[in-house]
Amino acid sequence: PDNGLVRTPPMGWNSWNKFAGRVTEADVRAAADALVSTGMSKMGYIYVNIDDTWEGGRDANGNIQLNQKFHDMKALADYVHSKGLKLGIYSSPGPKNCAGYTGSFGHEAQDAKTYASWGIDYLKYDLCSARNIYKSTPEIHQALYQKMGEALQSTGRPIVFSLCQYGENDPWKWGYKAGGNLWRTTGDIRDQWESMDRIGFSQIDIATYNHPGRWNDPDMLEVGNGGMSADEYRTHMSLWSLLSAPLIAGNDLSNMSEETKSILMNGDVIAIDQDSAVHPVQRQAKQGTVEVLTRLMSDGSTVVGLFNRGNAPAPASLDWTALSTRPGFKVRDLWKHEPVNVSGTPYQATVPVHGVVLLRVTP
Ligand code: DGJ
Repeated sequence: PDNGLVRTPPMGWNSWNKFAGRVTEADVRAAADALVSTGMSKMGYIYVNIDDTWEGGRDANGNIQLNQKFHDMKALADYVHSKGLKLGIYSSPGPKNCAGYTGSFGHEAQDAKTYASWGIDYLKYDLCSARNIYKSTPEIHQALYQKMGEALQSTGRPIVFSLCQYGENDPWKWGYKAGGNLWRTTGDIRDQWESMDRIGFSQIDIATYNHPGRWNDPDMLEVGNGGMSADEYRTHMSLWSLLSAPLIAGNDLSNMSEETKSILMNGDVIAIDQDSAVHPVQRQAKQGTVEVLTRLMSDGSTVVGLFNRGNAPAPASLDWTALSTRPGFKVRDLWKHEPVNVSGTPYQATVPVHGVVLLRVTP
């Protein structure tokens, strides 16, 4: 059954991409503080998600414990909630999670109740050691996740359920039946152009599986982590938004350059991601190294992305009439934040290396 959550793709922050196994309770509080002080929370980034390495063992009654990096999960949730944000946590269907800490195997209902009692709002459930125990079939993966999906629903607390099994067994076909709200569609992203490019452009054909409450998850954002150029990060943000992907920042929010903020907080781009109509992105054309992607918006406008995947600046052109424009149509450049002069046709642009020109055409 549909839990009614995340009618648009979830937005927030997750500790893994930047802090990995070093994350502490102080880092999580700092991320919550920064979501508010930067203005990100007002733009929709509301989930503060703790990834792997918070768990201790279990007590005599089997209750999951925190390790020395975390002190009081209920107090942390209260703090996050006091800022108008929501707290996410992480576990695995196996006995151990990926970093070797305690997973939920055999304790699914008990852990779900514990999370609910702490005030948890989001669970990322990472296959990890369960992969070595069970055969990898769609049925078995679905059953593993469904066990926790049902346990979460039985708590009565609304908890977003994020399936993480690296795209194995086409989770877009069964993830929602397991109670999932989102499911990873690929292996882990890295903070490098090759990784982001490969993941991003492999998602277009499955975009039709996105629906309110059910999202493909091509992994978290690397914007601001330093391994890509600003143009590459603008491509990352543009592509993830055209794909209706979860926008889960993965950088140190307490320490962001103005450029990083301008990318994560581009409201015009976020609006594409969060568009209520959830029309799938489409491949329009290829012009040399430039991929032209389009997506229809709920207001009848069309977003056009001219993405240069090549290693040299590349020319791109666009025939406005092909976009069903009418006299008086308007075009806005969503990264330059300015209107585009539409008198000349076709429109011509030079797209920087690994960069994007992102336009919203209102007919
Ligand atoms: C694998 C996942 O894909 C990552 O996002 C992260 O959660 C790590 N496991 C944590 O161990």
